Amino acid sequence: MENKVITVTSPLLPSLDDFLPYLEDIWQRKWLTNNGHYHKELEKALCDYLKVPYVSLFTNGTLPLMCALQALRITGEVITTPYSFVATSHSLWWNGIKPVFVDIDPGTCNIDPSKIEAAITPKTTAIMPVHVYGKPCDIGRIQEIADKYGLKVIYDAAHAFGVEVNGHSILEAGDMSTLSFHATKVYNTIEGGALVCHDEKMKRRIDYLKNFGFAGETTIIAPGINGKMDEIRSAYGLINLKQVDAAIDSRRQIALLYRNTLQEVKGIRFMEDMPGVRHNYSYFPIFVDSEEYGMTRDELYFKMKEGDVLGRRYFYPLISEFSTYRGLESARPENLPVAHRIADSVICLPMYHDIRKYEIERILSLIIK
Ligand SMILES: Cc1ncc(COP(=O)(O)O)c(C=O)c1O
Repeated sequence: MENKVITVTSPLLPSLDDFLPYLEDIWQRKWLTNNGHYHKELEKALCDYLKVPYVSLFTNGTLPLMCALQALRITGEVITTPYSFVATSHSLWWNGIKPVFVDIDPGTCNIDPSKIEAAITPKTTAIMPVHVYGKPCDIGRIQEIADKYGLKVIYDAAHAFGVEVNGHSILEAGDMSTLSFHATKVYNTIEGGALVCHDEKMKRRIDYLKNFGFAGETTIIAPGINGKMDEIRSAYGLINLKQVDAAIDSRRQIALLYRNTLQEVKGIRFMEDMPGVRHNYSYFPIFVDSEEYGMTRDELYFKMKEGDVLGRRYFYPLISEFSTYRGLESARPENLPVAHRIADSVICLPMYHDIRKYEIERILSLIIK
């Protein structure tokens, strides 16, 4: 069989047969955006699926981060992780807030709670952790610190769709959580996202903020933004929600296939499931110990690329290495040794619901020497 390029991800798509009747209905209704029928339906369906009372849909996963900070009136400094997608820190920068980077835990790749307190100053108002690869942060310890110092907690849960701990949604943690429904995610609406909060009053405020701040025909409650999700992507999202459990199950089986083989490979580490957690298998990162493996991460990454397998060095470089953030005191590499080590060793292997077994074998044959 001819080798085709294996990409790191591939979107979960509704069938066109399923989608067309929804499009016909939208055409008849002639209501395309601004809290329409399918927008309301999807918010309801997501509340049920995610087991949370309030979901506010957005047009991507970055605007909910920015609006969460506005809704909670966060200012000054926010403690966050350098090991994430740039949108996490960018949302702070856009709000005029200084990100303060704290090192990560090598096991989960999430912010290391034992290092948070040392980074708190009189200007600190919140913590913005990320459930990296959908692996839950230490939410108990983070909340203890937040309570002790009177800080808010906003979780960037962009990777954590459907993740549960002991039967509870991970989205229950903190003051708010944000989701991304980007095409590359476990659950997608092409572009899209959501903000999850815990009370009706806050849900209303968020809904105003994502619609320019309008609280009525002639009332503006704050300088809001346009973060609205349209009817077409809401309908698409309703159909995709019906197939997301099957997609997560396929991903779980793919993770097992990878692990079965990779456990025999010296110098390659991967992540195991955590007890009591319903994982979503959104990514399959491996960590290369170059001495033990006999090849550096980049050598393996480019070897895979030559073999038409497109892994991703996700997250490399660290956010703290980008020019916007590099000058910050907390961005100094001495402050973030674990994050640097992980960023220099990681490759995310291709992972999506319909990757074929022979493709997994091709990927693994490039890693096994
Ligand atoms: C951790 C994290 N935060 C935020 C985002 C931003 O989401 P979006 O691309 O939907 O704006 C992403 C998306 O890729 C992400 O991975």
